[in-house]
This record gives sequence, structure tokens and C-alpha cells, in this order.
Amino acid sequence: MAGKRIRVKAPATVSNLSCGFDVLGLALDEPFDVVDLELTDTGTVVIDDIRGCGRLSRDPEQNVVGVVLKAASAMAGSSTGFRVSIEKGIRPGSGIGSSGASAAAAAFGANLLLGEKFTSSEMVRLAMEGERLASGSAHADNVAPALLGGIILVRSYEPLDIVRLHVPPELYCVVIHPETEIKTSVARGLLESQVPLTTAVRQWGNLAGLVAGLYREDYDLIGRSLIDFVAEPKRSVLIEGFDLVRSTAMECGALGAGISGSGPSVFALCRGGDSAAAVMKGMSEAMKSQGIGFDAYVSPVSRRGAQVW
Ligand code: HSE
Repeated sequence: MAGKRIRVKAPATVSNLSCGFDVLGLALDEPFDVVDLELTDTGTVVIDDIRGCGRLSRDPEQNVVGVVLKAASAMAGSSTGFRVSIEKGIRPGSGIGSSGASAAAAAFGANLLLGEKFTSSEMVRLAMEGERLASGSAHADNVAPALLGGIILVRSYEPLDIVRLHVPPELYCVVIHPETEIKTSVARGLLESQVPLTTAVRQWGNLAGLVAGLYREDYDLIGRSLIDFVAEPKRSVLIEGFDLVRSTAMECGALGAGISGSGPSVFALCRGGDSAAAVMKGMSEAMKSQGIGFDAYVSPVSRRGAQVW
């Protein structure tokens, strides 16, 4: 029904969780992006306004929200169109799923305006188109938790198989987001296309250990498993102060810590809110000592992803 409007938000996410490159991600409570959508019968997508970030394109072909809505309109029928305004609460190039949150909000909002036409899997696929534009790779480890909340495993991309994992009740996440930017495409370009078998064995041991730890609510096992032998060794050089911030998180009692997504944000998982507050304080002091401005967030794993706002 043309003229119908909706305002939705979708949260920042921490993807990879060290050992789960491209297959694991969790949703935070904040920060988040907000998207206002209006259904039209023009068959076009118009981006009226982008607030909170001056350098994103309003050309729908060059904007993650635009490409997601164009894909949604192609699936829904040729006269389906959208007008949209975007409020960025998550800075692009942050490593906490900025493009993923916008893409998830667009897919979620379009689905509601179209009478819940799409399945969860279809919404994830739509949002992945935004990631394809933003980074050249249609990964789902940010968009799936941004849409669905919780901790998500992408068991398979072809066919897409999204699995919601158990969230232990005391699990908290701390994120330090330095005022620097890393393009996901650049960070992906640093990775080898082949992984030696010995490295793969260590990585999938940790991945399985982390999933088992979540289900057993075994916080020590979760912590032991938060090690990345594949991406972090190549990418950490891009993040000034990474080793110090990570080691400080561990000294302050974090279960484990690593690069959030493709960086530069650094995340730590903690047991309980008090521990998370202490870890955030320590990580913040470590980042401050590097003379780099930053934002800090502490959040339980958010059970809700995209939602009406
Ligand atoms: N899994 C992706 C990567 C996340 O590490 O490149 C990017 O946000």
C-alpha cells in the first residue's frame, strides 16, 4: 500500500568472534542505525536524506540501503518503490557492522512494509547485497545478527543456512572503537586465499570449542577458544595499539579479546557486567595512552536485532 511508512533500527554487530571468520557474529545493544522508509508505487528507490555521516552516496546504486531496497523491489514486483532517510549511528569503516546495520534495517523495514513477504533467510540474502556493495564480498556474519539478534552461526553460504546459537546469560561484550577507519575490502585483501592444514586444525578446534562453550555456559572454554590464527595475525598490524589493548583486556579479566570484524574496533567478551565495566576501563586507558580518540561500548549480547523504532 503506497504511502505506508515505518521507522526501524538495527544494531552494531561484532563479527568473526576471533575463530569464526565470516561465520560468527553477535548483536550489541548500541550503537545502531535508524532508517525511515515509505512504500511507493513508482518502482524506484529515492534516498532523501543521510544524517550522521557526510560522505555516503545518495545514489541508490552506490548506497547499501539503496541496493537492498532495489533488490527487495525486484523481488516484490516492478512497481514497488521506496523513499528512505538514513540516520547513521555507526561510523563506516568501524569494524562493528556499519554497512551491515543499514542493510539489515533496510531489509527488515522493506519486509514489514510489504506485509512480511520475505522469510528470514530471504531478508539475510537481501541484506547481503548491501555487504557486496560495501566490501566486495556478500558475507552474512554482520547482517544476520543485525537482523535476528543474538549470536549467529552462518553454517553455510550455499545454500544459506543460518543457525541461532545459545547465548549464556552472563555474557557481555566490550567494544573499543578507535577514531580510525579500515575498509573491509582492504582488510580482506591482506588475507591469504589458502590456509595451511595445521592452521585450519587449530582454527576449527577453537570454533567448535566456542560453540560448545556457549551451549555449556562454560565461560573458561569460551575464553580459551577466542583465538584467531587466520585473520588477526595479518590484520592486527593495521590497528595502532592493538596488542596493548588486547593484553590489557586479558589482564583486566576478559575471557578473550580480538579484532571486531575487519577492525579497527577491538572487542572483548566478559563474564558479567562488573567484569565488563572493569575491562572497558582498562581497554579505554590503554587506547588513551596511544593518543587516539575512541568510543567505548559495553553491552550484553542483544537478543533483538532489527526492530521497529
Ligand atoms: N567477516 C568479515 C571480515 C566481517 O572479517 O572481513 C567484515 O565486517
